[in-house]
Amino acid sequence: MAHVLVIGASRGIGLELVRQCRAAGAQVTATARDDAGAARLAELGAAALTLDVTEAASCAGFAWAIDGESFDEAWLAAGVYGPRTAGLDVPTQADFDRVLHTNVLGAMRLLPVLAGHLAPGARLAVLSSRMGSIGARGSAAGWLYRASKAALNSVLKDASLALAGRAVCVALHPGWVRTDMGGAGADLDVAASVADLRRTLAALTPADNGGFFNHDGMPIPW
Ligand SMILES: NC(=O)c1ccc[n+]([C@@H]2O[C@H](COP(=O)([O-])OP(=O)(O)OC[C@H]3O[C@@H](n4cnc5c(N)ncnc54)[C@H](OP(=O)(O)O)[C@@H]3O)[C@@H](O)[C@H]2O)c1
Repeated sequence: MAHVLVIGASRGIGLELVRQCRAAGAQVTATARDDAGAARLAELGAAALTLDVTEAASCAGFAWAIDGESFDEAWLAAGVYGPRTAGLDVPTQADFDRVLHTNVLGAMRLLPVLAGHLAPGARLAVLSSRMGSIGARGSAAGWLYRASKAALNSVLKDASLALAGRAVCVALHPGWVRTDMGGAGADLDVAASVADLRRTLAALTPADNGGFFNHDGMPIPW
C-alpha cells in the first residue's frame, strides 16, 4: 500500500488530495493547523498531524512525529495568497513576512526533513502556481504571491538536484481552482484539479525531475 503525505490538508486542494488518495486505498498522513482540520482528516481515515509551516518549533515537532515513516508520495500544499493587489503596491512588512514565510521558508524547512523520509523512487510535488512563472507572465496582479511562488520554484529546483536519483521532485500548477483561495469564479472544480494532479504525478519519470508542470502534465516555462 502506498504511503502518501499531504502537508496543508485542512481544506481546499490538500483536503481533496487526502480524500482521493484514501479512496484509492492509500495510507495517508496529512497535516492541519488546528483541531477542526485534524478532525476532517481523521474522518477520512488519514493519520492527522498538527503543523504550522511558519513555526520552527512546529516543523521540528513534525519531524519528530514522522520519525521512522517512509513516503512514496509527498505533496506540499500549504500556501497563502496575501494581498489582492493589481499593480506595484508596496507590501506591508507583515504581509511580506506572512506570504514568504508560508510559501517559501516553510518549504525550506520541510524539504530537508522530507528528504530523509522518501521511499526509493518517491515522487514529491510542491503546489506552485503559473503565477510564479516569469517566462509565462502577462500581468503584475498579486505580485507578492507571484514572487513567493517564483522563489518556491527555485527552492524546488534545488531540492530536485539534491535528491536526483532518489526521488522525482516537481512544481505543479493546479489550475485556477474553486477553493477558498481560488474563489467561486475559478475555472476548475477541486475534484477535477486533484484528479489531474494525481495522474500527472503518477506519470512522471526520472527525466521529469526538477520540472514545472500544469495539472494536465503540460510543461510550464520557469
Ligand atoms: N486555488 C487555486 O486556484 C490555486 C492556483 C494555483 C496554486 N494554488 C496553490 O495550491 C495550494 C493549495 O491552495 P488552495 O486553493 O487549496 O488554498 P486554500 O483553500 O486557501 O487552502 C490553503 C491550505 O494551506 C494551509 N495553510 C496556510 N497557511 C499555513 C501554515 N502556516 N501552515 C500550515 N498550513 C497552512 C491552510 O490551512 P488552514 O486551514 O489552517 O488555514 C489550508 O489547508 C497553495 O499552495 C496555493 O498557492 C492554488
